[in-house]
Amino acid sequence: MAREKVKALLAREAAGGTVTVQGWVRTARHGKEVSFLEVADGSCFAGVQVVAGPELANFETCVRSVRTGCAVSATGTVVDSPGKGQRFEIQAQALELIGPVADDYPLQKKRHSFEFLRTIAHLRMRTNTLGAIVRVRNAASRAIHDFFQARGFLYLHTPIITMSDAEGAGELFRVTEFDPDTAPKKDGKTDFSQDFFGGESFLTVSGQLEAEIGALSMSDVYTFGPTFRSENSNTSRHLAEFWMVEPESAFCELEGLVDLAEAFLKEIFQRVLADCPDDMQFFNDRIDNSVLETLRHIIETPFERITYSEAISILEGSGQDFEFPVSWGVDLQSEHERYLAEEHIKRPVVVVDYPASIKAFYMYKNDDDRTVRAMDVLVPRVGEIIGGSQREHRLDILRERMRAQGLPEDHYWWYLDLRRYGSVPHAGFGLGFERVVQFMTGMANIRDVMPFPRVPGSAEF
Ligand code: 4AD
Ligand code: MG
Repeated sequence: MAREKVKALLAREAAGGTVTVQGWVRTARHGKEVSFLEVADGSCFAGVQVVAGPELANFETCVRSVRTGCAVSATGTVVDSPGKGQRFEIQAQALELIGPVADDYPLQKKRHSFEFLRTIAHLRMRTNTLGAIVRVRNAASRAIHDFFQARGFLYLHTPIITMSDAEGAGELFRVTEFDPDTAPKKDGKTDFSQDFFGGESFLTVSGQLEAEIGALSMSDVYTFGPTFRSENSNTSRHLAEFWMVEPESAFCELEGLVDLAEAFLKEIFQRVLADCPDDMQFFNDRIDNSVLETLRHIIETPFERITYSEAISILEGSGQDFEFPVSWGVDLQSEHERYLAEEHIKRPVVVVDYPASIKAFYMYKNDDDRTVRAMDVLVPRVGEIIGGSQREHRLDILRERMRAQGLPEDHYWWYLDLRRYGSVPHAGFGLGFERVVQFMTGMANIRDVMPFPRVPGSAEF
C-alpha cells in the first residue's frame, strides 16, 4: 500500500471501523485452518496480507479457491502481524471474489524473463519490476513539472502532427489520410497537396521548433510529450515512440543551459529517491546494486564539463579498441559516450562545442567557424540522456547552415521569421524520459521502462 493509504487504513481502524482492501492476489497460501492472501493494488510496492479463516461464510465455497491473479475485495480489521515481512495484516470479516482468474493465467510465482513479459504487456504491470517502473515514471513526471513550474517555466503544448523535420535527420513517420493504393498522383508522385493537411505531414521528432516559438514570446517554456522516430535501430536504448522533456529559454546562452540541465537531473533523482523509496530499493536489490549509491553520489557532486575536442583527446589516448575509430570530426558513438562517462570520468559529463558538420542546422555557430554550441549530457551505462544547444538566432548564419544541409528555406519560413522579428539568444535541450528512467532504475533494456514500447516490428497493446 502507498504510505498515505496505509495511514488512512490505520486511522480508520483506530477509529474503531473496519477497512476494505481491493486488489489482485499476488500469492495465495491455503493452510489447514486459514488462507493467507497477499493482495496488491499497484499503488505502491508492498501488498498487504489478508488472513481469512473458516468463520467466513464463503470460506469453503470461495476463499479456498482464490488463486494468484484473482481480483478480490477484503473487509476486516487491521492487526499486528505475527508473520515475517509485514508490520500488520488484515483479519478478514468478509472476502469477495470480484474477478476470478482463468487457468492459463501466465503470471505465476516463478520469475519471468523480461523478454517474456514484453509479450504480455497487458499483465506485466502487475509484476514487481514493471509496477515499480510505472510508479517511478509517475514520480519523475511530477518532479519534472514541479522543477519547471517552480522556476516560472510555462508548460507549452506542442503539436504531435507536423510538417517539419525538427532534427533534419529524415527519421519521420508519415501521417496521411490516403490509401497508399489509390493515392492521387502528380508527375508520377503522390500528390500530398490533396491530402488532409494540404501537404506532407508527419509525427513530430521533437517539439523544439515550436518551443522556440514559445520562448520567443513567453521567455521560458517547456514541453513534455511523445516524440516519434523511424530510425531502425534495434538497440537497448532506442524506441520508435518516446517521451521527451524540452525546456527552451530566451535570453539564455550555453552556460546557462548546462546549469539548468544539471540542476534538473539532480532534482529528478532526488525526488524519485524521496518519493519511491521501496521501488528504488527493489531496483537496487534485484536489478543493479549500484543504483542507489550512484544516484546519491551524483546529487552531491558537480557534473564534469568538457569540450568535444577534449573528449576526442581522451578517447584517442584511452588505449581502447573501439569498434568505431575516433578522430576529430566523427560523431560520438554509444561506446565512446559510455567510455567517457563510465570509465574515464565515472559520473555524468556534459560535452559541449561539437563539430558543426555532425549537428543539427539550428545550433549556434562558434567563432572558430567549425564548432557549434551543442551540449550532450552523458551518463554511465546509458550514454546520452540529454541533447541540446544554444540556438542560432542570427538570420544569415542560420540560412547558411540550412543551405549547407539542403533544407528548403520556404518550408521553415516561420522559423526564419523569428530571426527577423526581435531575435534574441536562446537555448534549450531535450531529455529522453525513458533514458533517464533506465539510468535511475538500472534496467538494461529501454523496452522495459516504457509501459507500451514501440519498436521495429512491434506495436501491439
Ligand atoms: O539529441 P536529440 O535528438 O535532441 C533533440 O531532439 C532536440 N531537438 C532536443 C532539444 O534541444 N529540444 O534527442 C534528445 C534526447 C536524447 O538525448 C535521448 O535521451 C533521447 O532524446 N532520444 C531517444 N530516446 C529513446 N529512443 C530514441 N530513439 C531516442 N532518440 C533520442
Ligand atoms: Mg542527440
